[in-house]
Amino acid sequence: MIEVKNLTKLIDGNVIVNDISFSVSKGETFVLLGTSGCGKTTTLKMINRLIEPTSGEIFINNKNVREEIPENLRRNIGYVIQNAGLFPHYKVGENISIVPNLLKWEKEKTKKRVYELMELVGLAPDEFINRFPHELSGGQKQRVGIARALAVDSPIILLDEPFGALDQITRTQIRKEFKNLESSLYKTIILVTHDVIEALELADRICLMNKGKIEQIGKAHELISSPANIFVKSFFDLVQAEVSEAFFKLKSGIK
Ligand SMILES: Nc1ncnc2c1ncn2[C@@H]1O[C@H](COP(=O)(O)OP(=O)(O)OP(=O)(O)O)[C@@H](O)[C@H]1O
Ligand SMILES: [Mg+2]
Repeated sequence: MIEVKNLTKLIDGNVIVNDISFSVSKGETFVLLGTSGCGKTTTLKMINRLIEPTSGEIFINNKNVREEIPENLRRNIGYVIQNAGLFPHYKVGENISIVPNLLKWEKEKTKKRVYELMELVGLAPDEFINRFPHELSGGQKQRVGIARALAVDSPIILLDEPFGALDQITRTQIRKEFKNLESSLYKTIILVTHDVIEALELADRICLMNKGKIEQIGKAHELISSPANIFVKSFFDLVQAEVSEAFFKLKSGIK
């Protein structure tokens, strides 16, 4: 479904993304994991052409994204921007309606969808629909960001640290809801995170990045039990206690 081939991005002579390749199947949740500054956001933004690669190709359903008009491409790919990225002068309801409005949906259909999504992400519509982003907490903004990405039911969703600003309890709860939602909607998802536990919980496969390169791609248990190199091993060793617990829960089906 999504195929990334030898993608490289140079900015001011610095290699930000260094010859990476991966493919994501239909319905898969693929997690780009890595520490701050390793090139996750840059990779994600090249997929919906918010950033143009220096070299390499990206195919979606066998079609090179370079042949698509960027605006059309973005209308068909849900995107949760790191730090929510809401339009400050638009109310919550208007932020969620941006793409439905671009697609000229009937007013009633859009309104119904906005209410549905707000319920889904746990924001009471009557209380929040007319608030501006500056009247929301960080976590509430992120929920609006998630609702906005789901608005038009696109088959592909790109999520950049969507749960980043949430406290641990809310985070676990929304993640769980998201997991249920995701399995019922059968979307193809690329999710960026630096949180190992989040990656273990949500990923079908993890792509561990470091300094613009891919260190290893595989299922969580493969990265943990057969790390490709010392970097992968130390990355998981550092959070070993948490990983063991999350891994145990996953294996025994406890969520
Ligand atoms: N427009 C830019 N100009 C110069 N350097 C940039 C630019 N955009 C990104 N970078 C650099 O590229 C590197 C990768 O940035 P990117 O945002 O992709 O990282 P990230 O993995 O998403 O990090 P984080 O987890 O902190 O969000 C960083 O070192 C960043 O400073
Ligand atoms: Mg980032």
